Amino acid sequence: MIKVVIIGSGNLASHLIHEFQKSNRIHLVQVYNRNIDKIQYLKNQVAITSKIADLKDADIYILAISDNAISEFSKKLVLKNKLVVHTSGGLHLNNLKSDSDKGVFYPLQTFSKNKKVEFSSIPICIEANEQKDIILLEKLAKSISTKCYSINSKQRKSLHVSAVFVNNFVNHLYHIGNEICKEQNIPFELLLPLIEETATKIQSLPPIDAQTGPAKRNDTKTIEEHLALLNANQQNIYKLLTNSITTTYGKKL
Ligand SMILES: NC(=O)c1ccc[n+]([C@@H]2O[C@H](COP(=O)([O-])OP(=O)(O)OC[C@H]3O[C@@H](n4cnc5c(N)ncnc54)[C@H](OP(=O)(O)O)[C@@H]3O)[C@@H](O)[C@H]2O)c1
Repeated sequence: MIKVVIIGSGNLASHLIHEFQKSNRIHLVQVYNRNIDKIQYLKNQVAITSKIADLKDADIYILAISDNAISEFSKKLVLKNKLVVHTSGGLHLNNLKSDSDKGVFYPLQTFSKNKKVEFSSIPICIEANEQKDIILLEKLAKSISTKCYSINSKQRKSLHVSAVFVNNFVNHLYHIGNEICKEQNIPFELLLPLIEETATKIQSLPPIDAQTGPAKRNDTKTIEEHLALLNANQQNIYKLLTNSITTTYGKKL
């Protein structure tokens, strides 16, 4: 059994707590949160604390706290011969400042507290300086997922930027699409099969081959008409993406 302490109670921590509690290969020893109120709901299931001095003995301490807090918080941890990991896509391993061994345990998915996820298919990106810690993190990852990848800090940063494009930016574009539909009383659900097919198609075609639409075809009249429908912010985004597509496919507007 791998003994784990989770630090944090937010979107990711709450999912990790749930998964580790289900696994018979992991002993979730304790959950820490600076604000104890947010973890009171766990008090009958697992030890909880808001005091760093009361942290229990474990093999791995998982910092699932805001990126900005990781360096300062890790300085306060005095855990010799233990493994302390953060869960951030964007932060280098060396942002951890504790005396202990350091690592990263980054599940590549979008987590919201009250939205269930199927953890077994989520890629978990691990990193550590010591081989023994890589083996331990691999064991931990494989107890909750079938997908575990060794990814160094430089690769993970690029992976994270990539994830911002394919998830955060795409989701913002959904929001804009929804706003445009609302203005004409069109239900957003009309677009759901298109969204689904777009995401499914790139599982069998490279994104460069899957592109369609006015920018790819260089349909300039349609593009002008679209621009006339949009507000200034939407026009900026439309023009930026249209230019990127036409440049990619070698046509000038
Ligand atoms: N959410 C995702 O989709 C996702 C995916 C992969 C990786 N991650 C990574 O997971 C980590 C947590 O993200 P999240 O989305 O779960 O964040 P979140 O929901 O905003 O939760 C933030 C957590 O950090 C704690 N915290 C904030 N500042 C702190 C400080 N100065 N000292 C101690 N604790 C502090 C909060 O404690 P309080 O409750 O007391 O405020 C809370 O437990 C980040 O490193 C993020 O990059 C997130």
